[in-house]
Amino acid sequence: MPDSLAARTATAPAPAGPFVPPPNLYVSTHPAVQHKLALLRTESTEPKKFRELVREISWLVGYEALADAKIEPIEVRTPLETTPGARLADRIGLIPILRAGLGMVDAMLELMPTAEVWHLGLFRDERTLRPVEYYNKLPDTATVDVCLILDPMLATGGSATAAIEVLKHWGARRIKLLNLIAAPEGVTAVSTAHPDVPIYCAALDRQLNEKGYILPGLGDAGDRQFGTYKHS
Ligand code: PRP
Ligand code: URA
Repeated sequence: MPDSLAARTATAPAPAGPFVPPPNLYVSTHPAVQHKLALLRTESTEPKKFRELVREISWLVGYEALADAKIEPIEVRTPLETTPGARLADRIGLIPILRAGLGMVDAMLELMPTAEVWHLGLFRDERTLRPVEYYNKLPDTATVDVCLILDPMLATGGSATAAIEVLKHWGARRIKLLNLIAAPEGVTAVSTAHPDVPIYCAALDRQLNEKGYILPGLGDAGDRQFGTYKHS
């Protein structure tokens, strides 16, 4: 069981003013996503099942996020005749945010087998809630047309905003953010700083608590995937 879960249940003050979902936010309404999300949130879901669910929900939400990927026409020879076909024309870059974003990579590689994977290491300082970058091996210039940032949780938005800034500095033009659960605070932070970046998620939750955890949320996405809860 995740440690200090009880300590995370006190709520932080609600953000000033009502939350108005921005036009760049897409929350999946697919029944399969809703079903799997309930299992993902469930406290008793073990890491193995949790990882499976992260993978399955990522596939479903990623499918929606990449619906506008560019294709080019090709000719296909079937056993019977020649017919017009299509192949992906966009060079897709997957940018998993370590650690928790790792669990979303395989699903996205199934969807987009030719995608490049560029890992970005960011962790959230527990005290300040600010992101700290610890791994970045991006080459000097952008090598892809579309960057899909993979991170299960959008809480304060600090990590996502930092990742977007790194990618823009790299020269990325089309950036999308793929989350499983987003908090209104994080959505507002990202869409205010980067209104050009669409956010795709499986759920928009209520709020953050005073420790920056999403409510109702699922706890710590990295710890739940990798079984690294701190036991008290
Ligand atoms: C989690 C999560 C995001 C970040 C979200 O990572 O995977 O990267 O927190 O919070 P934010 O929106 O407030 O920045 P964490 O820092 O726990 O690192 P981990 O994936 O290594 O566990
Ligand atoms: N990171 C997580 O893993 N969970 C949260 O609720 C917030 C940030």
